[in-house]
Amino acid sequence: MDSKDNLVIFDTTLRDGEQSPGASMTKDEKVRIAKALEKLRVDVIEAGFAISSQGDFAAIQAIANSITESRICSLSRAIRADIERAAEALKGANAGRIHTFIATSPIHMKYKLQMQPDQVLEQAVDAVKIARGLIDDVEFSLEDASRTEFDFMCRITEAAINAGARTINLPDTVGYSDPEEYGAMLERLINTVPNADKAIFSVHCHNDLGLAVANSLSAVKAGARQVECTINGLGERAGNASLEELVMAIRTRRDIFPVQTQIDTSHIVPTSRLVSSITGFPVQPNKAIVGANAFAHESGIHQDGILKFRETYEIMKAEDVGWSTNKLSLGKLSGRAAFAARLEELGISFDSKEAFNQAFVRFKDLADKKREIFDEDLQALVSDVQMGAEDEAITVVDLEVLSKTGQLPTAKISILYKDREHSSEAEGDGAVDAIFKAIEKLVKSETNLQLYSVNAVTQGTDSQGEVTVRLEKQGRIINGQGADTDILVASAKAYVNALTLMRNPGGLHPQLGGV
Ligand code: KIV
Ligand code: ZN
Repeated sequence: MDSKDNLVIFDTTLRDGEQSPGASMTKDEKVRIAKALEKLRVDVIEAGFAISSQGDFAAIQAIANSITESRICSLSRAIRADIERAAEALKGANAGRIHTFIATSPIHMKYKLQMQPDQVLEQAVDAVKIARGLIDDVEFSLEDASRTEFDFMCRITEAAINAGARTINLPDTVGYSDPEEYGAMLERLINTVPNADKAIFSVHCHNDLGLAVANSLSAVKAGARQVECTINGLGERAGNASLEELVMAIRTRRDIFPVQTQIDTSHIVPTSRLVSSITGFPVQPNKAIVGANAFAHESGIHQDGILKFRETYEIMKAEDVGWSTNKLSLGKLSGRAAFAARLEELGISFDSKEAFNQAFVRFKDLADKKREIFDEDLQALVSDVQMGAEDEAITVVDLEVLSKTGQLPTAKISILYKDREHSSEAEGDGAVDAIFKAIEKLVKSETNLQLYSVNAVTQGTDSQGEVTVRLEKQGRIINGQGADTDILVASAKAYVNALTLMRNPGGLHPQLGGV
């Protein structure tokens, strides 16, 4: 390996990523993603915002107790109670970090915080000191840094480092900056602050103008040595800088970037799929690195060039980012032991023997319909089982759909709720519409359907269809998912899953203001 600086990869899929409307995840799902991030070898996993909810606290705690290789971090406002809660959640961590922040731009200080700059500076310093009293590794963020006055940015950065912050993060919170401006800001700050050599400078860019990755890379050239990012670019509003794009840009253009990462890139695609399947946010086919078309060549000229010499049109190898790790996992004849062993390798565990047995029965059902079972199939199947375990779970018992050219489709459905079976029938503008109407006749949820999407879990016409349904009710947005080799069954499962989650506020993540 060459002697380049290490670039710290700080993944915030479980915190900022979860702030994408509809992307809330359960504790078990977060632990599964954290295990995948550990395999990917990310340096820091921001596991949540401990004080924001009991669910977040429990998820951080569970992650801290099960991850050994990556550092686990909790976000906290610059407030004693937040910081203490973060420290409490991180107690079991092998290596922990408290990430405390306060807004520093004139617009945020005046309208949101209603504080004077000197008060903000004092609160920041106090927060860093409190955090350092509880943990060794403290990161301080100047929220809305890219719109902060330069002199104030220097003062607060210097003071936070003196108070013990080891990492200073300069977020482009509203995705307003451009690469030249943002890189220049970083360089000027590092050259101006007298104790800059005592901290690592970090960037955290939002994608409102589609510039999050470009801004982060520009900052890296200017001296940043940590980037905050998410799998698939998930995150508040238009999302955060995407981990896979950053890492592959640095690796592919090692000639121009002065850094290297320790990411095991062969786990990028499996991790992207896991996050997509858990959150129900499909990856667009033309998404760089992880989109289905990222390595597909359509034009004859391109195909001809590739066959003659791959590098004519390909700058990366698909297998380097994990496209070929779509491993044949199990088949019809695989037994309980093989099933359990493969799930363990995938980092999937169950709370009870009953949940495992339920998953095994589903696996056998699936193997009857589909000859080859891939890791993605297992992940989809397990998500289904774990969703079904909720107290308020509604499950699909039976579905019959009649669809004939020139006639309105009809759906007959039976669902199970609190040990009782309920049945209904409805017509619709399409088969899926009929199914949803039949369910609504029973549930009367008063929700609005915001999104319906279908994705193939693997290749081939026997692939399971993974359906995402997004429902909204009084401002709350929930994504439900269902997977099945029959996409109509998958649609029904996704719809009732969203209804189940809507009834289970425990699994949700109410955000505090100010992030
Ligand atoms: O976007 C932002 O400024 C943040 C901070 C809390 C780091 O998410
Ligand atoms: Zn953010």
